[in-house]
Amino acid sequence: MISRNRRLRTNDSIRSLVRETNLTTNDLVLPMFVMEGNNKKEAISSMPGVFRQSLDLTVQTVKENYKLGIKAVNLYMKVSDNLKDNTGKEAWNPNGLMQNTIRAIKDAVPGVIIMPDVALDPYSIYGHDGIIKNGKIDNDSTVEALVKMGVSHAEAGADILAPSDMMDGRVLAMREGLEESGFTDVGILSYAAKYASAFYGPFRNALDSAPVDAQEIPADKKTYQMDFHNSREAIDEALKDVDEGADIIMIKPGMPYLDIVSKIRELITQPIAVYQVSGEYAMLKAAAQNGWLDNDKVLIESLTSIKRAGADMIFTYAAPEVARLLNQ
Ligand code: PBG
Repeated sequence: MISRNRRLRTNDSIRSLVRETNLTTNDLVLPMFVMEGNNKKEAISSMPGVFRQSLDLTVQTVKENYKLGIKAVNLYMKVSDNLKDNTGKEAWNPNGLMQNTIRAIKDAVPGVIIMPDVALDPYSIYGHDGIIKNGKIDNDSTVEALVKMGVSHAEAGADILAPSDMMDGRVLAMREGLEESGFTDVGILSYAAKYASAFYGPFRNALDSAPVDAQEIPADKKTYQMDFHNSREAIDEALKDVDEGADIIMIKPGMPYLDIVSKIRELITQPIAVYQVSGEYAMLKAAAQNGWLDNDKVLIESLTSIKRAGADMIFTYAAPEVARLLNQ
């Protein structure tokens, strides 16, 4: 035998010399749930260790995590039912919860990259990412609403808009909206390949945003999010969003979709973000809480596998605890 692969696995020193992928705190983006009020913190039962917090506590958490090395946050708002309607117009209220949160974070931690979610579902009475017109999720009027929403985030101080809605043509429309309003340096991270996935369940509990039966539209998002049986379609979505001006391309969910990540990695030069979504987080936590899996090890392994597949950054609810592990 001339070649023995085990030679380079003999001890940790040699293993670390030949290591192809390294997970660092530079890779982490923390998604956060914000709610109205003051000094309020509510646990999300299906996501152990994750909370909905009022603005003041959110700012404090961002500050603490920034010290741990987490330089980017992705923001989601839980708004009360009386602010919801079919148009989602609360989403571009200049003094809405999102806009106030962006301003407060920017003020307290200027170095942090703020990535607000741009989608109507937390503001829709139907829990949909689009406006319903004539019994359909109407693409073009939704895109107009998303542009207003995105520009209002930019006005509040957002760094990178993160549209997660999956309407057609929204990246170009948003880019044009930003250019026209003078926000030439505000970027777009587009959820390009976002699948209609059952792994979003715990997130919808967190925001009380699960889709409901509306007029003739069933309570799912299959007319705009992608069919999970497909992968060529994901490539098409990614290439179109790049053409429309997206700075970063998102693939979502994470672990069950690493084939998609690796294919798109080969085809585009833009940075790729991958979302380890709420259901993936919940699975790992549930098994760890039962003593069936080693919490720390599976977190690091699952995130490293996402990076190995081609991600440049990973959205994960575990970012704070992973940063602590990596800093040890
Ligand atoms: C909504 C949105 C969802 C997630 C991010 N943005 C849920 C959905 O599409 O219904 C899911 C994130 C997660 O599950 O962690 N636009």
